[in-house]
Amino acid sequence: MATTESKAPAKDSRKKVGLAPNLDSGFYGQDIISVSQFTRENLEHIFGVAEEMRAIVKRVGSSDLLKGTVLACLFYEPSTRTSSSFIAAMSRLGGTVIPITQGVQFSSVSKGESLPDTVRTLESYADVIVIRHPEMGSAQTAADYAQKPIINGGDGAGEHPTQALLDLFTIKEELGQIDGLSVGMVGDLRFGRTVHSLARLLCLYDVQFNFVAPEILRLPLDVMNEIRKRNLPVTETYDVAEIVADVDVLYITRVQKERFSDLAQYEEVKDLYAITPELMEKAKEKMIVMHPLPRVGEISYAVDSDPRAAYFRQMENGMYIRMALLAAVLGKV
Ligand code: NCD
Repeated sequence: MATTESKAPAKDSRKKVGLAPNLDSGFYGQDIISVSQFTRENLEHIFGVAEEMRAIVKRVGSSDLLKGTVLACLFYEPSTRTSSSFIAAMSRLGGTVIPITQGVQFSSVSKGESLPDTVRTLESYADVIVIRHPEMGSAQTAADYAQKPIINGGDGAGEHPTQALLDLFTIKEELGQIDGLSVGMVGDLRFGRTVHSLARLLCLYDVQFNFVAPEILRLPLDVMNEIRKRNLPVTETYDVAEIVADVDVLYITRVQKERFSDLAQYEEVKDLYAITPELMEKAKEKMIVMHPLPRVGEISYAVDSDPRAAYFRQMENGMYIRMALLAAVLGKV
């Protein structure tokens, strides 16, 4: 990331977006950087709005709740789901989008413009900015400089809070509750930002964690410490067969090739796990398989027709959650 010498101006936590309307979820004018901003109460609120958004989309396709507002999508890393679901979310609520998603190489970033300057440029045209960037902490940096709300669409191996919200929403929709569940997380627990955010968010509930990874892809200590602080039960293994029969949620992830400095190390661990129909025979009848996607071999196509395969429903939920979040930071719910 290009940096500047100047220091970010000090700001109120609520950004300069006008007077708070009556309906205030607590997110009006706020950045969404980390799952640590969420409580069980405000999650319930967002999930309730997401259900309403689903009803609107199914019944009439769109609404004009955010008519006249503009979202800037600033993606320094590849994306299909996060970017297009944010674009669809804004469009279905009547707003419009500045899409810098097909490669920042076509923007002034390629001329050497810094992140703070790019963000300050976009906020002079847009009301809210979603940013994805390869560096951990970059969304916070953007938020430190911006007067308008910044939503973290993934900061390197750090966090991916909107994904965690849609993951949790999916668990609740599919299984009816979160307390009491046994959750297996499999694959790249070290670099997988969706794992970090979801594990942190699940700490608000009474869940059992079952982590499955090889030594070099184990969950980072800071996330593990958050779980330990909550005294939640944790198991760790490298063999998915050991946990498959016990879990209610099997959350599998792609090994994040782009985060390895040594590609030989990536080759060693890239094909360790695969969810197959044979493995699914050992799983509970009422359980779900989730994946943030894209998959690159971790789930065989033959599993797609299993009713327990929730990953495509999970992906669709992303749009409803992002509709709810945009409405919340723009002060409409
Ligand atoms: C994830 C991401 O970008 O962290 N994708 C997503 O947003 N759905 C997972 C991944 O890339 O493996």
